[in-house]
Amino acid sequence: MAIDDMRQYMEQLRRRGELVEIDVAVDPELEVSEITDRVSKAHGPALLFRNPAGSDIPILINQYGGMKRMSLALGGEDLDAVAARLGQVTQLQMPHGLVNKLKALGKLKDLASSAPKLVKSGPCQEVVLEEPNLDILPILKTWPGDGGPFITLPVVFTRDPVTGTRNAGMYRLQKFDARTTGMHWHVHKDGAENFRAAGDRIEVAVAIGTDPATTYAATAPLPRDLDEMMLAGFLRGKPVQMVKCRTVDLEVPATAEIILEGYVKADELRREGPFGDHTGYYSLADDYPVFHLTAMTHRRDPIYATTIVGRPPMEDCYLGKATERLFLPFLKMTVPEMVDMNLPLEGVFHNCAIISIKKSYPSQARKVMSAVWGLGML
Ligand SMILES: Cc1cc2nc3c(=O)[nH]c(=O)nc-3n(C[C@H](O)[C@H](O)[C@H](O)COP(=O)(O)O)c2cc1C
Repeated sequence: MAIDDMRQYMEQLRRRGELVEIDVAVDPELEVSEITDRVSKAHGPALLFRNPAGSDIPILINQYGGMKRMSLALGGEDLDAVAARLGQVTQLQMPHGLVNKLKALGKLKDLASSAPKLVKSGPCQEVVLEEPNLDILPILKTWPGDGGPFITLPVVFTRDPVTGTRNAGMYRLQKFDARTTGMHWHVHKDGAENFRAAGDRIEVAVAIGTDPATTYAATAPLPRDLDEMMLAGFLRGKPVQMVKCRTVDLEVPATAEIILEGYVKADELRREGPFGDHTGYYSLADDYPVFHLTAMTHRRDPIYATTIVGRPPMEDCYLGKATERLFLPFLKMTVPEMVDMNLPLEGVFHNCAIISIKKSYPSQARKVMSAVWGLGML
């Protein structure tokens, strides 16, 4: 059954004993992360901090921390089964014979019914703030040397200004004040490419607390001309419902917990970081664009979804594991001798890839290495 929103997913975690709820007050500055770090290292459950100090909004963290939860997030099957379903799409060829044609039609129907659907209204706009105000959110400062508090699990939406194709990417946002954050899209990411193509200003919308397939899709290394919401719909087996934003010409997932709308200007950079990163080391401070909020909406009684990154194992490692399984069929399309791949947790997401090949000539491994490095998927 498709998981429509983060709350349904939380309910499933609760029923399976995979979610622990904490009622005592815990500080979003360093304390939530200290607890979550210890729980991650012990391969423990997802955590719902119901009373973060200084905010009325509970914090959900470590929701994807572990293979069991990551598989559940993408439909309950194990990740290889999800990958096999995706893999069938990559093998679509002109079928011979009636039975094969019917089978191919079934796969095409799966694809066609994955397209996101625009709806008139959604719970993510139940509450509209007159003035955007990030101060109401329990944004975490994770590590002592971090440059400030960071929104770490945002689904950031932009559009290619030429083709209009939507992009969703996960890029951390350092809170500067109640209405501005950093926009940490690396230069080679699709959001940054859309930004450059847009010229002087680009509209941006951010969804926090989305259904798990949507959150995962934002982290997935899809080519620029593919809409991540299509992948999310395919993984969920049901289209993602989208609603129009209030102040920008973009759409956001209707069931998200919190929405930030705004813009980024080309002529404005601000120091971002340092930030204790996926590797367990601090990424140095650098200049990044600034995200200005023009609107903020949320569900009634919203839940703030976040994560911490640092020395593995952390939650992000399992998002990486999902990519390892799901994207293997796509890698094999370009590198057909590839048999399997392991992105070990210790390699921090994508910094170490162990690849097995069906070897048929000397030095073939070198060819595979060069191909994989050049693909941008790892
Ligand atoms: C928890 C988490 C945080 C991330 N933070 C960033 C970030 O701050 N900047 C960035 O460029 N990529 C970040 N990534 C990686 C991107 O989300 C990933 O490369 C994604 O494919 C980018 O989408 P795009 O290819 O559409 O740009 C993060 C991934 C995860 C799982």
